[in-house]
Amino acid sequence: MRDTPDASSASPQGNRPPSEHHSPRTAISLPVHGVRHHVDVEDRWTLGELLRDHLDLTGTAVWADGADVQTVEGLARDGHLSPLQQAFIEHNAPQCGFCTPGQLMMATALLNTIPRPDAAQVQQALVGNLCRCANYNAIVEAVVAAGAQQGGAA
Ligand code: FES
Repeated sequence: MRDTPDASSASPQGNRPPSEHHSPRTAISLPVHGVRHHVDVEDRWTLGELLRDHLDLTGTAVWADGADVQTVEGLARDGHLSPLQQAFIEHNAPQCGFCTPGQLMMATALLNTIPRPDAAQVQQALVGNLCRCANYNAIVEAVVAAGAQQGGAA
């Protein structure tokens, strides 16, 4: 669900059926992709649960930098994949795709910190993201290529 800036958004229950119990709730205001959402959350919800189950961001791989929440859905702009997403396609980085949102978000954070990482820096940054397809070489190549492109190298 997308919303206009500073407009209220998700219903307290989102897409879920009404809960049988009455868990404690807290009203929060949360910026996601630059759009502020006002949501009445159950105190036990995780950020991932809120994004996936109540804001319909089902590809959720979360990156919260303290100012704004970013998910994989926010990488493309105006219907165009980001250079990193395009590099993933060109290097066949997604196999089954299960790990791809997390790899993309971690790589995005890396490229924001180190614009032109080498393979060792990419491996270090993505070490916590497991790929069940073991497609690590292609993922690293894609991130290095995206960095080189963003840095203006060949
Ligand atoms: S592409 Fe299948 S788990 Fe990584």
